[in-house]
Amino acid sequence: MSDARRRLLGGLSPAAFLARHWQKEALRVTGALPGFRGPLDARALRTLAMRDDVESRLVVREGAAWTLRHGPLRAADFRALPPRGWTLLVQGVNLHDRDCDDLLRRFAFVPYARLDDVMASYAVPGGGVGPHLDNYDVFLLQGFGRRRWRYGRQDDARFRPGLPLRILRRFAPAQDHVFGPGDLLYLPPEWAHDGVALEPCTTYSIGFRAATAQELGTAFLDFLRDDLDLDGRYADPGLRPTSAPARIPDAMVKRVAALLAAIRWDRATVARFLGRTLSEPKAIVVFDPPDAPLRPAAFRARIARCGVRLDARTLMLYDDRAFHVNGESAARNPGDVALERLADDRALAPAASATLPRAQVARLHRWYLDGYLVPDA
Ligand code: SIN
Ligand code: CO
Repeated sequence: MSDARRRLLGGLSPAAFLARHWQKEALRVTGALPGFRGPLDARALRTLAMRDDVESRLVVREGAAWTLRHGPLRAADFRALPPRGWTLLVQGVNLHDRDCDDLLRRFAFVPYARLDDVMASYAVPGGGVGPHLDNYDVFLLQGFGRRRWRYGRQDDARFRPGLPLRILRRFAPAQDHVFGPGDLLYLPPEWAHDGVALEPCTTYSIGFRAATAQELGTAFLDFLRDDLDLDGRYADPGLRPTSAPARIPDAMVKRVAALLAAIRWDRATVARFLGRTLSEPKAIVVFDPPDAPLRPAAFRARIARCGVRLDARTLMLYDDRAFHVNGESAARNPGDVALERLADDRALAPAASATLPRAQVARLHRWYLDGYLVPDA
């Protein structure tokens, strides 16, 4: 394992980190990424926050009063800001900035199916979102400037009523540390935390996702319904006269139960469901198809010369039977290891691209036309 990899987790291997800390204990790493200042400055974040395909929030604290404004933000929103006590938060910066995407991939020892996105925040002194807890695991990586983090495990998850943000009623954390550029804090789900900027600073939250059982259940039923194709119709050729016409006949219940028993699923159905659901881009994401697309032969020659790379917005996962790309599933063949590499590394080198079978190049070309991937320059 490289020194950089080990330093990122405070000297722990990914296996040791997962065993001791993941979903269990916080981890503070001083100098996790030496020299890191973060790829985005205040201006870059502001520009992103003004786009309508980017989710953003502006949080201002004045004494005990909190205000929250959702993006897309306008220039006037920034002109009205006080000198202290505000923060701008931009979600999904990895979808728009290659360096932020690279940041996310440093944590690829956790399956992509668990990764959510990178959120970046810029705060002026006193700025923060208040003491709160999140439902997800998160790595908080300090960009430029210093921030004071107080955090700890706490059972009391009640929030203060009547505020636009979820701010804890009680907050008595055991830990209190100042984080500088390149320092990292891992927090398990539900740990209380509060980060307050000591000077103008940025923080990158590498966030994970974990659906509730209820969310999985409803999404799975939607998935089953989309693919539902049942044969037959209710029939009762042996019907006898009834003296209680309002009563639902037992025989009817039995027959309908038999019809519904045709709705079945197994592990393969669950794998297909997960692949499709987890590779589904967020509603705000839009892909840009190429303006003057290369024809298949030129595309083939180009990727053989330069390689190919997934667009930063593309979600590509796979299992034993299929590839799942941006919510679409495509069956895989035994020889599809190159596409596995493309999904894992998010890029395929020229040599590997040059030896792809024709059917796979055709598949990549279709994804290219949809804006899901690009030949390297
Ligand atoms: C922040 O970057 O200010 C907030 C991150 C968090 O606490 O979840
Ligand atoms: Co948080």
